[in-house]
Amino acid sequence: TTKATAPLPEEEFLIIAHRGASAYAPEHSLLAYELAVQMQADYIELDVQQTSDDELIAMHDDFVITHNGKRAVSDMTFQELKDIPRSTTFSSQIPVSLEKVVDPLRIVSTEEILSHFGKNVNYYIEIKSSDSSLEIEEELVRQLHAHGLLPVTGNKPNVILQSFHPASLKFIHGKEPGIPLIQLYSQKKESMLTKRNLRKVATYASGIGVEKSAVTKELVELSHSVGLHVHPYTVNEEEEIQKMIDLGVDGIFTDVPDKAQRILIKE
Ligand code: G3P
Ligand code: CA
Repeated sequence: TTKATAPLPEEEFLIIAHRGASAYAPEHSLLAYELAVQMQADYIELDVQQTSDDELIAMHDDFVITHNGKRAVSDMTFQELKDIPRSTTFSSQIPVSLEKVVDPLRIVSTEEILSHFGKNVNYYIEIKSSDSSLEIEEELVRQLHAHGLLPVTGNKPNVILQSFHPASLKFIHGKEPGIPLIQLYSQKKESMLTKRNLRKVATYASGIGVEKSAVTKELVELSHSVGLHVHPYTVNEEEEIQKMIDLGVDGIFTDVPDKAQRILIKE
């Protein structure tokens, strides 16, 4: 038997701070996330990966360039990743809330982010790499429970999870049907955006995340007709943000939540 999917807000346009306010601070840093909160983003977006010592961290790239060459994140310890200096060309002020944090620019674990922000923000978390053990999914759900973030609360749900991998989302839906899920599509999978497929996606997910160039009025209408919301990524230019609003999408992933907020206010 299939379980009902969790609702997303119908009337609200969601500003999802992609890797934090990542235009203004190193992506996925506590500083980037704090700036996103200051800019009143509805969600902070995290990409999650697992280190060699089984820590879940917020990081997009699955490798780092060291002076010994390229190394896979999954072969590095959390300590090694923490030690990567992130000198910055960004000039953002350090907010008061981060004054006690030793290095607000470094790579952080999901535990650190959840401890720092607790219930004060909404999380939109991507399971980046996944394998059949579903260890990352299990651990992430455990952490969300431990921080009192599950079961999901709020008309604007406090937690949304996303993945490019259907198996990952189906597993979570079976375990925690109260969490709204977003099926991501890469550009090369856009031919899969058919009514037939979207109907299937709607059995476990509440929305889709697509490359902005894939968004048309037809796609938005088709998605809505099967009950799926549409969140394009990554929308940073003023004209693009306006275009996405006009096409009727339900929210955007953006590196510039302040700009998106200004455009929405003018609407
Ligand atoms: O999660 C939506 C979007 O962020 C997917 O692309 O590569 O930025 O994680 P990526
Ligand atoms: Ca992402």
